[in-house]
Amino acid sequence: MLAAKHFPSSGCNSGFDETLFQQIADDLREKGFSVRPAALPEHIANALYAQQQSLSDHKYADAGIGRGTNFVKTEFVRTDEICWITGESNAGAQWIDWMGQLQRFLNQQLFLGLFSFESHFAHYEPGAYYKRHYDAFRGEANRVLSVVTYLNPAWGHEEGGELVLYRDDHDRTGLKVVPLFGSLVVFLSEEFPHEVLPARRDRYSVAGWFRVNTSIGNNIDPPR
Ligand code: OGA
Ligand code: MN
Repeated sequence: MLAAKHFPSSGCNSGFDETLFQQIADDLREKGFSVRPAALPEHIANALYAQQQSLSDHKYADAGIGRGTNFVKTEFVRTDEICWITGESNAGAQWIDWMGQLQRFLNQQLFLGLFSFESHFAHYEPGAYYKRHYDAFRGEANRVLSVVTYLNPAWGHEEGGELVLYRDDHDRTGLKVVPLFGSLVVFLSEEFPHEVLPARRDRYSVAGWFRVNTSIGNNIDPPR
């Protein structure tokens, strides 16, 4: 019923979409990012959508920037609200499992050394935004690869809310991605500044990051 067309699975390799993963790997190799419409498998998209809809407002927290004691809320930068995804829910577990398959595939193909994955639901109320930013900074890089997918059935192109992906610091035009149900965007976290434009209706996304291991000694790097 929801407008989620997905790639046919590759037959014997159940639940593992080799064609799609290969396309993402090729895109990343060639240009550092990948935009794949209707890529999220329908059963995962529907499960995430249902869970997202059932999240009551108090499960969401105002988003901020930075981690741990560096965390600050700032309306200058972003006005969305977020809820971290754990494997406790069925939907969360399916999503994390699928991302784990992508992680293994990309590690084999591109030697990225992806080590862990963290992700959250995000809700942008009408008018909410996330100004131009990087998901990771050179040097302190542990977020290597960013992933975003969308849970907005029947999103109209006139409703705004595009993700704008910029090639570099000088690019003022960027590539606009409409937050269509099940579209998947993957990009190198340090390479692409990006922003979320305000929308006319509530906008739901899942944003995630693959990280490399930056643990020192027995001090395991906290996931967030
Ligand atoms: C983010 C982000 C993009 C989107 O959460 O860091 O850039 O389209 N999200 O929701
Ligand atoms: Mn971002």
